[in-house]
Amino acid sequence: MISHHPEARLWLLSTPGTSYAFQLDADDVPRHVHWGRPLTLEQAVVIAADLPAEDPGSDDAGGEEYVVEGGLRFGAPSLTVRFDDGVRGFEWRFLSHTVEGGRLTLSFADRVRSLGLDLHYRILDGHDQIERWAVLTADEPVDVLRFDSAAWTLPARDDYRVSHVVGEWGREFQLQRDRVPVGETVFTSRLGITGQHAGPWLMLDAHDATEEHGEVWSAALAWSGSRRITLRRDPYGRASWTGGFGHEGLVWKLVPGESLETPVFTGLYAPDGFGGASRRWHAYIERQVLPARPAERPLIFNSWEATEFDITEKQQAELAELAAGVGIEVFVVDDAWFGTRTSDMAGLGDWWPNPDRFPAGLGPLADRVRALGMGFGLWVEPEGVNPDSDLFRAHPDWILHQDGRTRTLRRNQHVLNFARRDVREWAVEWLVRTVTELDVVFLKWDMNRSFSEVGQPGAADPDRIWIEHTRGVYEVMDRLRAARPGLYLESCAGGGGRADLGVLARADQVWTSDNTDAADRIAIQHGHCQLLPARTMGAWVTDSPNSFTARPTSIRYRFHVSMAGAMGIGGDLRKWSEEDLAWARMLVEQYKRIRPVVHGGALYRLDHDAVQYLTEDEVVVFQFQPSALNRSVVRTRLKGLDPDARYRDVATGAVHEGAVLLGHGLPPLLSFDWTSELVHLRRVPR
Ligand code: GLA
Repeated sequence: MISHHPEARLWLLSTPGTSYAFQLDADDVPRHVHWGRPLTLEQAVVIAADLPAEDPGSDDAGGEEYVVEGGLRFGAPSLTVRFDDGVRGFEWRFLSHTVEGGRLTLSFADRVRSLGLDLHYRILDGHDQIERWAVLTADEPVDVLRFDSAAWTLPARDDYRVSHVVGEWGREFQLQRDRVPVGETVFTSRLGITGQHAGPWLMLDAHDATEEHGEVWSAALAWSGSRRITLRRDPYGRASWTGGFGHEGLVWKLVPGESLETPVFTGLYAPDGFGGASRRWHAYIERQVLPARPAERPLIFNSWEATEFDITEKQQAELAELAAGVGIEVFVVDDAWFGTRTSDMAGLGDWWPNPDRFPAGLGPLADRVRALGMGFGLWVEPEGVNPDSDLFRAHPDWILHQDGRTRTLRRNQHVLNFARRDVREWAVEWLVRTVTELDVVFLKWDMNRSFSEVGQPGAADPDRIWIEHTRGVYEVMDRLRAARPGLYLESCAGGGGRADLGVLARADQVWTSDNTDAADRIAIQHGHCQLLPARTMGAWVTDSPNSFTARPTSIRYRFHVSMAGAMGIGGDLRKWSEEDLAWARMLVEQYKRIRPVVHGGALYRLDHDAVQYLTEDEVVVFQFQPSALNRSVVRTRLKGLDPDARYRDVATGAVHEGAVLLGHGLPPLLSFDWTSELVHLRRVPR
């Protein structure tokens, strides 16, 4: 619900579990009032009246709802503009506000210049998230140096801690918890893509939150390109952050009549710890962000680790036969099916079946896969091009480049400029045609490099590519989905390099990491699920020893780790023993039984790497043994159960009391390093 107090010039956004309030001061400056536990309008007005007036000892008023440049403002701005005559900044003049359902828009203009700024808010039934974005409209030429979606202000606390994920190729989503230093900390990607080194979200707490207790404030940016979130803790102890698309140094030019809209930056307050924050994010992403679908993701086989660039029709058909035998639902051919792509040196951009490898095209393989009862899937990298390709030879100007500058290669490829309409039309044409002709049901959309020499010679507003490329990728994905509504999309960028709420409005899941070592995956999956639901977490079972780390692990352990997400198989099934294939069949059957709980239930992180999924009537718990933990004394306590209910172990028939599972836990089950257990419980009717 959105309420307004005209005298106090205050707005209150109320979600089921939280309240958010701000007001306009006498100079029309929007000032933050409250973000936290639920309040009435009258209570919010009391808090607003109590806000500190200008502090004579401080250079910076702080606490602004959206920080512009000008006056006594010295923190990181949300908006920086420069007009043609060199004048900078924005002076607030309030025009009007509108409320439509859960949507609130406040319109402002600069006091003297022809520049309009709208601040948007949206709340959604049944969720505690607040979506925010901004629109700038120019009626005179203006350079935009920074234009953030929103600024978020925290209540005063004695200390602050930030949780976020960092990483690299093969080590994505590593959860970090760091004390927030006094000063400014910038969480940024200048890569042009989301990137593996940092996730586009933050969670803050007063250094007192645990998994299930304590206040957590968080925000996630729905954007897959370069971004910048500046977190600030000022010397007076206050904390806030502002964030949006782009990074420092970029300049976007608006011409009269033009508008620029930011991506959505969604904020969430949770009173019940990091677990509570994660479950609220999962529910929001599942119902409001992801394409509408049944919760359960298909069980795929992916050929990459098994055959890499060395693929043939016969060998893929052999793998398909084995995959069908263990219960796979979709067979996905990864890289190297097209053009002259026999290594990463050539062929990227030439999206027709390699005639030497597939003399009659991919049709016969796709038909064979379907005859085996599976759907057919493919890997593509629409934004990449090798210089050694027909596409590049025909269109050398289609890549991001600048006159006179080196065209830097990475993985022997350039980035196609999706800000160009002709490039987007080309991509939509071959993607829709390929997916339609072959009846592709699952498409892995990869993107294997960061940007360099970003430009388009002759472009009037060259830095706009940093925005328009990402929007172009979204447009192509949206048009492809519209043409093939049943198609599953998997977002990949050298593993988990494109995992954000922008792409997840189009992609059903993420390829989490090229590191498929199950032991390493525990930390990767732990970080992924801080924000993103388990159903979005692509997780293959591969060979042992692992090709990435050479670590040997048991087949059960590898399956259990993958079963905690959107499982797939990515190993070379031709090399699996009869015994392993029998295990695989059994574990796949078990996965299919628990999949509705893993993909549709609420996720609870338990002690000691254990993870639990809970629906109304079912509980699934995975326990993983790291090294050097004395399991004989460690018990795994479950969460969220009904203490008065009883739960039957589906495998053993043993019946447990809810109160005992909550208070005392499951008996110790594990002994050796890298072992695991799966416990599936069903509520027993009383
Ligand atoms: C990237 C992906 C891998 C695989 C290869 C193919 O590295 O992350 O999963 O698809 O490309 O070249």
